[in-house]
Amino acid sequence: MKTLLKNAGQIITVDTKGKNVKRGKNLSDILPISDTAILFENGIIKDFITNSSADKVEVSSIIDAKDCIVLPGLIECHTHAAYAGSRANEFLMRLKGATYEEISQAGGGITSTMKAVRNSSFEDLVRLLKPRIDHFVSQGVTALEIKSGYGLSFYDEIKLLQVINHFKTNSSIDIVPTFLGAHTYPPEYKNDHGQYLKLINEELLPYIFKNKLAEHVDAFCEKTAFSANEVDLIFSNAKNLGYKLRLHTEQFNAVGGLEVALKHKALSVDHLEVLQENNIPKLAKSNTAAVLLPGVSFFLDCPLAPARKLIESNAIVALSTDYNPGSSHIPNLQLVMQLAALNYKMSVEEIISAVTINSAYAMDMQESIGSIEIGKQADFAIFDAKDISEIIYNIGINLNKFTVKKGKIVYSRTREN
Ligand code: NIG
Ligand code: FE
Repeated sequence: MKTLLKNAGQIITVDTKGKNVKRGKNLSDILPISDTAILFENGIIKDFITNSSADKVEVSSIIDAKDCIVLPGLIECHTHAAYAGSRANEFLMRLKGATYEEISQAGGGITSTMKAVRNSSFEDLVRLLKPRIDHFVSQGVTALEIKSGYGLSFYDEIKLLQVINHFKTNSSIDIVPTFLGAHTYPPEYKNDHGQYLKLINEELLPYIFKNKLAEHVDAFCEKTAFSANEVDLIFSNAKNLGYKLRLHTEQFNAVGGLEVALKHKALSVDHLEVLQENNIPKLAKSNTAAVLLPGVSFFLDCPLAPARKLIESNAIVALSTDYNPGSSHIPNLQLVMQLAALNYKMSVEEIISAVTINSAYAMDMQESIGSIEIGKQADFAIFDAKDISEIIYNIGINLNKFTVKKGKIVYSRTREN
């Protein structure tokens, strides 16, 4: 089935010239083209032709992107969207001065969401997750990563991964599950970390891999969560089994997580709000992506990751919402792009690369998605905008008009906003 996307005001290709990633100043090369139509067949981009010659091509359907900006489908590479309950009470406590870490040490935080998840059935969790995925799709997101990490027992981590996997076949976009059993120690193992590590290393990791519930493993390396040595052990086991690795690190304290992630050649290190200056060159030289989460700094009123310094040092910078109920209750990638402009001082071009090709890279999906290149999936976010500057200027407004996944329109705006 051949389809043509035509009449776009501009197509932002984010062409990587086969590199499938953008580092440092290359984040600005988003390679826009105009007067061009895109031809795709069976969901794969086949050719670029001029809009005038497009009329002569025989196709079974046409997507009219008149006066719009066509972007690669947006890629959300770090969320904790599969959760139950609300932490609005903790938000109010924080507004009165309590810190995120104080709340979590007092039994709130991740543990409070864990309790709500444990009290929810598979069906309850499916019902809660569906509209959250749909909301990302409406913003132009065509690939969405979702972590476990709120079950923290064998039964509940598997339940959560089964919920996430349910949407691999029951949603219109790519859903990428990540196992985050090492999110925090659950209360029943508070005084026996060794037993919980055993559960992760000897039971959960092999079971999840064997049953194809996740290909990615993440952990939270932090004073109040897992030490660098504990992450090292989990990563060694996970890598031996064949998993790809990600790491939450240098969020509140730098406790050696970055070094462990680099040692294991993790796909990404995420957060980095307290990344030490002397570690920037090390990370920038590596092939590990820096996934930055400006929504967390905004939501928790905490320091900003050194985005500019990372880009200037030639790092691979990606951006994500970190959507979760406690540290970033922000299910909105476009808002995060705007925060990256305002707070990180990233340019709109850099931001576009960070939420497309580099987010794909952080999930090891860069060969099939993340840019508009021949041979890649026909995934697009079609924005109702004349100039890319509008993407960061229209704060809080969804500019996305159509989401196209593998050549099919999976979201179409029905009202003006
Ligand atoms: O990425 N840092 C650890 N995990 C999440 C927060 C999870 C939560 O508070 O529920 C994060 O910030
Ligand atoms: Fe996170």
